[in-house]
Amino acid sequence: MATTPKPSSERSIGTVAIRWHGSSLELLDQRLLPGEEHWITLEGAAGVSQSIRDMVVRGAPAIGISAAYGVALAARHAGGGDWKAEIKQAIRELAASRPTAVNLFWALQRMERVFHACHSLDEAVKRLAGEAEAIHEEDLAANFAMADHALEFIGAEAPFSVLTHCNTGALATGGYGTALGVVRRLHEEKLLAEVYADETRPWLQGGRLTAWELSRDGIPVTLNADGAAAAIMARKDVRWVIVGADRITANGDVVNKIGTYSLAVLARHHKAGFMVVAPSSTVDMAMAAGADVPIEERDGIEIREIRGIGLAPEGVKVFNPVFDVTPASLIDAIVTEKGVVHNPNITGMQALFG
Ligand code: MRU
Repeated sequence: MATTPKPSSERSIGTVAIRWHGSSLELLDQRLLPGEEHWITLEGAAGVSQSIRDMVVRGAPAIGISAAYGVALAARHAGGGDWKAEIKQAIRELAASRPTAVNLFWALQRMERVFHACHSLDEAVKRLAGEAEAIHEEDLAANFAMADHALEFIGAEAPFSVLTHCNTGALATGGYGTALGVVRRLHEEKLLAEVYADETRPWLQGGRLTAWELSRDGIPVTLNADGAAAAIMARKDVRWVIVGADRITANGDVVNKIGTYSLAVLARHHKAGFMVVAPSSTVDMAMAAGADVPIEERDGIEIREIRGIGLAPEGVKVFNPVFDVTPASLIDAIVTEKGVVHNPNITGMQALFG
């Protein structure tokens, strides 16, 4: 079904979590949501790296945007002596903050290219801030474009339900969202019956962020335990499972929040479509396959406890990989701002990103 895309200016972009003020960066502390809306002000790159590591800010595109602003802050607050060494050190620290989402490294490489072309600190301050702002703006534009491509690809004529995982909304991006951008777009077109949001153990991005973000914007959302996804697909009209990505490799494998792989298996069994929505900054053509991607493992305390309350025997061994790899063969479509890769494989990926 052909749809007329709305101009970006008419669209609500949702609740964003990143505000840039030129000499400081404000991040909405996502660890405290939905209970408290608390903004953290950062004036240096070290605070930005720490905020990424601690998940004050999270979501692949948001991590990349924040890191870019981190480099801009490093220039802004450089001592004036060996400013180049200071900026290089900041880039190294930012790159070490989280390993899996490639948007972080993509953004830092962009910032590094600009940095290498600067001849003075004044020039670096100006140009690095400009580049970070461009990364931020381009992400929002990509989200609008992806939502339009996805709608066209889905081609629905009557409302249907979708199931999503983790948080891929305005909070995880420069605004609007990736998978949740598609959800917003379906809602705008009155094609959305319901969004089932996996709560997304252990960090609960679905419960704490997605349910909050969608309810705030009046988008019909039902929260479910991750283990209920199969029952929902069996009993409800879930036509599409729509998720984001932290890294998409050259063969079309998708690395995303732990639990995504099981959803792809379930979707195939229940004949629901499985769509991945991510900007091209999430595509890593230098990485051959998902098995090559470093998967972050976080502290077992995230599973043993919730906000200090014990949920398991103290000291029990925990395996806590926070991402998994969905093989390309289980994916129906990868939607990026550059277009859609249908039934992804190495040839389709090369045709769009080669
Ligand atoms: O650990 P997180 O919360 O940073 O993980 C986020 C996800 O896995 C998202 O699904 C992905 O980054 C896409 S965000 C648009």
